[in-house]
Amino acid sequence: MKTENLPCVKVKKSSGEETRIALKDHKLLRTDAKITTNHDFIYLPLIRTLTESEKLNLDVSDVSTTEFKLLEPRISIEELVGFNPSFEIVGDIAVLTEDVANETLVAEAIMSLHKSIKVVAKRISPVEGVFRSRRLKIIAGEHRTETVHKENGCRYKLDLEHVYFNPRLARERDRVASLAARNKNEKKEVIDMFAGVGPFSIQIAKLAPQSHVTAIDINPVAISYLRENMDLNGVHSIEAIEGDIKEVYRAFTNRADRIIMNLPKSAYLFLAEALSMLKPEGGIIHFYDLESAYEASTENRVGAAINKAKQKLATGLQEYEVQWEIVDARKVKVYAPYAYIIGIDAKVKGTAPT
Ligand SMILES: C[S@@+](CC[C@H](N)C(=O)[O-])C[C@H]1O[C@@H](n2cnc3c(N)ncnc32)[C@H](O)[C@@H]1O
Repeated sequence: MKTENLPCVKVKKSSGEETRIALKDHKLLRTDAKITTNHDFIYLPLIRTLTESEKLNLDVSDVSTTEFKLLEPRISIEELVGFNPSFEIVGDIAVLTEDVANETLVAEAIMSLHKSIKVVAKRISPVEGVFRSRRLKIIAGEHRTETVHKENGCRYKLDLEHVYFNPRLARERDRVASLAARNKNEKKEVIDMFAGVGPFSIQIAKLAPQSHVTAIDINPVAISYLRENMDLNGVHSIEAIEGDIKEVYRAFTNRADRIIMNLPKSAYLFLAEALSMLKPEGGIIHFYDLESAYEASTENRVGAAINKAKQKLATGLQEYEVQWEIVDARKVKVYAPYAYIIGIDAKVKGTAPT
């Protein structure tokens, strides 16, 4: 087998799939070279070295040159359909993320190249409504939107049309679960305020089995899958609650050491409930926010969005008698051109009036 020295990105295995997808989407991944791994890291071959702004945008810093085995030429989707369609894979379903001409041809090409894909669908609405779900239209394969997705060693059964699920949050979920599992001997209380089918809660319960997780969601379908996913993953330290957090939070006053607020469009509207649920001695809030920064220059956009998110959190917290410290703030993913999901970890002490 031929080998070649190629520029590459080195990332932790837990972030490998997300970075691979991001590089592929930006047409920077070299697909004719074999991705290599060692115990902890994955090496992703590039078609060229990255610019500084690409590194910032993709959130990669470890770039170098490594020897890769070159693969036998395999027919590409571009050769089959004349362009490189953008799609994401959840379980055995591929979802086209933008409109394409000849969608049936594209769907059949995806299925012929990815033998594990059994359904190809396209988005026909944005993520919408309180449940944050979206409508899909099946283009090829079996007529279903239910699947089982594997992520970070866990399995999630879900219906893509009736619940929210984003495979691109895998790295963030892994990060938060690792933080929750840091002190293995301490029994901690975690509240996942917008739990969906449970990808934060279940990974935390798996990595930190001594802790107790309360997973809340207003969508009954999401809670029903969450309960099924607890069994699927053999975790039982989760209490799954169906309900509107604005109503159910009172049952959890002064309970939590760690709170996850994964509702980026409106998490800031739920700070009073989060603060009421924190223990009086304080705890960690994982706050997510959607911010656009089209006015900033390319290299400053992520920083500008992070500053806006910090400001939004500070403005919200200032209304209550609390002390806080931001321990980490980062881009979680690109949401749209110039718009980002920002994650902030804040240490907060003090409660809000209930
Ligand atoms: C962005 S999704 C996040 C789901 C999950 N954390 C994940 O990573 O897949 C937000 C979730 O919040 C739920 N939700 C929205 N408003 C809510 C409310 N007022 N109370 C409880 N859950 C709510 C939605 O049903 C949805 O499942």
